[in-house]
Amino acid sequence: MGRLLELEKVNLHYKSHNTSVQVIKDADLNIESGEKVAIVGKSGSGKTSLIMLIAGLERPTSGKITFDGKVISALSENELADIRRESIGIVFQSFYLIPNYTALENVSLILEINNVQNARKKAADLLSQFGLADRLNHFPTQLSGGEQQRVAIARSMAVMPKLILADEPTGNLDTENSKLISRLLFDYAKQNNSSFILVTHDQGFAAECDRIIKIEDGKIL
Ligand SMILES: Nc1ncnc2c1ncn2[C@@H]1O[C@H](COP(=O)(O)OP(=O)(O)OP(=O)(O)O)[C@@H](O)[C@H]1O
Ligand SMILES: [Mg+2]
Repeated sequence: MGRLLELEKVNLHYKSHNTSVQVIKDADLNIESGEKVAIVGKSGSGKTSLIMLIAGLERPTSGKITFDGKVISALSENELADIRRESIGIVFQSFYLIPNYTALENVSLILEINNVQNARKKAADLLSQFGLADRLNHFPTQLSGGEQQRVAIARSMAVMPKLILADEPTGNLDTENSKLISRLLFDYAKQNNSSFILVTHDQGFAAECDRIIKIEDGKIL
């Protein structure tokens, strides 16, 4: 096991015009490798902001974030990008697929960037596992929402990241697709012993995690 992620007294303020809003307040959090954690809380409580901090897409106003032994809150943008590419898979509610790339190309690109051999074959195998064997050459606009999200998840997991961050990955999907995608996420994270931080409003989904973290008005309870 061992610790994968640690937040110590992390604060995040957003400044706009002459006001400053404190969005994350003195957050302390530890995540072990392989641990599956759900984050729940009301709209506006700070869940996405917390994910952005952990992904290194926002910098804390104060406090310290350590990922895999590195203090990421002190790294340069380039160093952060390297860590994200190699070790962190991110899934958002909107899928952010590359529109002029096929399903296959969206997944193989990340493998190619990471210098993985046989990238196209690996991408095709992974998409097949996700039930998309006959959709490899479809562009995102030719796929349903559930199918697009499966491509996005395949892409986030392709490099077997140590950490998967998922921000309401099933928020835009119907119940049946939500169940399917939840299953894929869990099974794949388990198979690779990836840690998994999931923002969700789905109680059933949250209950399957090792731990549920509640956030209220920027504070981790
Ligand atoms: N770029 C920004 N500038 C200023 N305030 C922001 C910014 N982004 C978010 N906020 C504010 O920070 C607070 C937390 O937002 P966040 O997106 O983290 O909430 P959330 O818990 O993910 O909500 P939801 O469930 O609706 O997605 C909100 O009050 C929001 O208005
Ligand atoms: Mg959010």
